[in-house]
Amino acid sequence: MSLAATLQELKDSTAARIANASTLDELEAIRVETVGRKGVLAGAGKDMAKVAKEDRAAMGQLLNAVKSAIESALEERTNAFQAAALEARLDAEWMDLTAPAPGVQPGALHPVTQVQRYLEEVFTSMGFTVLSGPEVETEFHNFDALNIPPSHPARDMQDTFWLEGGHLLRTHTSPVQVRGMKRLGAPLRMIAPGRVFRNEEVDPSHEHTFYQLEGMMVDREVSIAHMLYFMKTLLKEIFQREVAVRLRPGYFPFVEPGFELDIQCLLCGGAGCPVCKYTGWVELLPCGLVHPNVLRAGGIDPGQWNGFAFGLGLTRLAMMRYGIDDIRLLQAGDLRFLNQFR
Ligand code: DAH
Repeated sequence: MSLAATLQELKDSTAARIANASTLDELEAIRVETVGRKGVLAGAGKDMAKVAKEDRAAMGQLLNAVKSAIESALEERTNAFQAAALEARLDAEWMDLTAPAPGVQPGALHPVTQVQRYLEEVFTSMGFTVLSGPEVETEFHNFDALNIPPSHPARDMQDTFWLEGGHLLRTHTSPVQVRGMKRLGAPLRMIAPGRVFRNEEVDPSHEHTFYQLEGMMVDREVSIAHMLYFMKTLLKEIFQREVAVRLRPGYFPFVEPGFELDIQCLLCGGAGCPVCKYTGWVELLPCGLVHPNVLRAGGIDPGQWNGFAFGLGLTRLAMMRYGIDDIRLLQAGDLRFLNQFR
């Protein structure tokens, strides 16, 4: 076969291969084989010497024409592949900028916090200041200053998490009474909501960590009638209706006299049910008139001033308010539970 015929055939067969190629790699292989530095055309160039002198110019032109025909076919096909790849990518990565953003769920207050905030409003409207104290307390503030000296059996009433150096996790919010008296003096109206800790076995009605709201009022000639007035107002605001209460004697070293204030069971109206253990009453609010020793520990003269104090179980109250029957749910952090209170 003449060189001219060979070139013509190379041009045709290469054009067919390029048209059939399906990947960029295939095109590259064809390029190397045909127009590459060591390719067929380069070899043909070397054969020029054998061509008759008078035919060389025409043969050279033919060679160049074949070369550029192959090169432009390769380029055209390469461009087509790249355009298709870009098209596929644009299709795959398409996004709708006008679509609404996925909903962002804002945070919400824990049910105990909701009850706490509500009571803070009720009490500030009656002239009470909201105070907080440390959760890691001194033995002095948690016990001694509240008329519970080291040998006192009442220390065993609260199972305490002891820390090093005379510190402990406060077992109640009552130590904030002492801090409040020292800081603000008399007359005084304060509440102290907060977290408390007891070394308890956890079950549906016991937690090692729970919330209380302490209250204290110190003034001149404060009586049990004053105390009852504030307690009834508090309960009316909480339950949004008049609630029947009864006072029973209760022992707490930091009050004298001390009481357990019970409310008539809201579920059965006093008839008796499982919630009130068939007594018709639910224990809710321990309280009493502040013991003179406690006033003294707070730097207040019991000859001039007296007062009442109470310790409300905030966790307990939130459970009653929302009908929660397992205290462990409150601290479990389970969103299925918490989302019910948003
Ligand atoms: N601190 C007590 C407790 O956690 C509750 C208490 C009782 C607080 C009587 C008071 C009070 O202020 O007067 O068991």
